[in-house]
Amino acid sequence: MKFNKLFCLPIILFSFYSLAVENKLIEECETCHGENGVSTNSTIPIISGLAAVNIEDAFSMYKDGEREAKDIDGNDMTKVANSLSEQEVSDISLYYSHKLFKTPNQVYDKTLVNAGKKIHLAKCDICHSEGGTLADDETLILAGQWTPYLRESINSFINGERYGDDTMVEELQALSEKHIEALLAYYASLK
Ligand code: HEC
Ligand code: HEC
Repeated sequence: MKFNKLFCLPIILFSFYSLAVENKLIEECETCHGENGVSTNSTIPIISGLAAVNIEDAFSMYKDGEREAKDIDGNDMTKVANSLSEQEVSDISLYYSHKLFKTPNQVYDKTLVNAGKKIHLAKCDICHSEGGTLADDETLILAGQWTPYLRESINSFINGERYGDDTMVEELQALSEKHIEALLAYYASLK
């Protein structure tokens, strides 16, 4: 009996330790990404319900300089990514992948939605199926993501500040601003 208790102690201490690390991490994420990762700031993405692999990839891209990070009150994603261990990135990615992606109510131009849907079906749906609603596609979620954030994302792919799939970048570069606004209205219309 005595031996068993001693044997368990390090395991119990270890579980407390990892729980504490996780809470501290979650708190840091949520200062920017909002409660449960459902951002209320339209220039910061909702991260709840994204595929774990996409969240992990985002961290390696910020770390490797393949994606430029925006300064928010003196902190940014590159600094966050550099401060985390591989295990922490993997834990936090899994954590948010199990939360629900919740779409905010956004104002959008209803007259552009149909045109946006047509462009999406012709050029984007092959990788972002069902209007970009599916985390399982592992191409991030477009439907219901904040419009100002998505507009910045598209522009950062076009001007090379963010590394993207070659085929996608070509498709995006060929779009007019009007086409982009139509796509954004379509994504905002989806729940
Ligand atoms: C200082 C604010 C800040 C903190 C802290 C922060 N993020 Fe971010 N995060 C952002 C911003 C802003 C973006 C998008 C713009 C950019 O690239 O900088 C972003 C982008 C992301 C993305 C990419 C999402 C997509 O759709 O491409 C993921 C995933 C992410 N953050 C996860 C996290 C996690 C998990 C944590 C906690 C470990 C965290 N972030 C902490 C501000 C922050
Ligand atoms: C060949 C496949 C492919 C095609 C076609 C494609 N995409 Fe993507 N897209 C991806 C992948 C892969 C990602 C994830 C990139 C990452 O992890 O940073 C992505 C990410 C995105 C993002 C970033 C979302 C976020 O949360 O930051 C936007 C916006 C986007 N795509 C828009 C489009 C639009 C609009 C089209 C059509 C004009 C399109 N994509 C066509 C593969 C594709």
